[in-house]
Amino acid sequence: MTSRLILLAMIAAIAGCATTAQSPATQPAPFTAIERGQALAERRCSGCHAVGLTGQSAQTMAPPFRDLGLRYNAISFERRMADLTSPGHHEMPPMRLERNEVRDLAAYIDSLDDP
Ligand code: HEC
Repeated sequence: MTSRLILLAMIAAIAGCATTAQSPATQPAPFTAIERGQALAERRCSGCHAVGLTGQSAQTMAPPFRDLGLRYNAISFERRMADLTSPGHHEMPPMRLERNEVRDLAAYIDSLDDP
């Protein structure tokens, strides 16, 4: 009887460890601003925009990110994002982005220009 309880407790402990070890929060954060910006673009923007060096946007209206680098520099991109993110913009839904996230996105978009 007691040994069975101990066994159950051990199983619970092991299961607990396994789930916490796998949580995304414990994974190391991406390193540079460009890498963080890319991860963010893939997570939050790629549903509509083409965010890489090739490919078409999923939403035909949404400009591919590689074209944005021609229209904006880091500063004007930050301003443009401030305009776009709170009210949303036509087809683009309102989205919350922190300032540092916008900076990372700007760094990533800027990097798409470089061959
Ligand atoms: C649900 C679809 C959708 C998502 C998600 C989305 N966008 Fe857009 N976005 C659009 C569309 C459509 C347009 C172009 C039409 C318009 O101007 O409304 C646009 C326009 C833009 C523009 C303006 C381009 C210009 O010419 O001024 C920028 C900058 C932009 N998006 C950045 C982003 C970023 C950064 C993200 C992710 C954080 C994102 N978008 C996520 C649909 C989306």
